[in-house]
Amino acid sequence: MPLIRFVDTGGALLAEADAAPGDLLLDVARLCDVPLHWRCGQGTCGTCKVRVTPVGEDGEVMLSGKERNVMLRAGLVSAEQARQAVWSGLAGHWRLACHLTVGADDWQVLCPQD
Ligand code: FES
Repeated sequence: MPLIRFVDTGGALLAEADAAPGDLLLDVARLCDVPLHWRCGQGTCGTCKVRVTPVGEDGEVMLSGKERNVMLRAGLVSAEQARQAVWSGLAGHWRLACHLTVGADDWQVLCPQD
């Protein structure tokens, strides 16, 4: 069972949760009362941005065109990143928690407070 650690921008622990592979990250955050801003829950507003750092190996990730377009509109990725459906890893990139499903690995999830 992957362990998800939610932290704030200063690195302080907000919550920890045992998730199941396939769980939506936004649902995991909401169940733990993590103060993560979100609005639509459907991948259109761009407010549920998080930075995910895998604990362990950080492999290739596929992003949907919808998530890339929303992140481009929200200024979270460059036009070049938005054109690429496969990224070399999660670390250091913004993702949208309502698009992101938990995998088999443990994650640290940075939740911005702005
Ligand atoms: S809550 Fe709107 S994009 Fe995730």
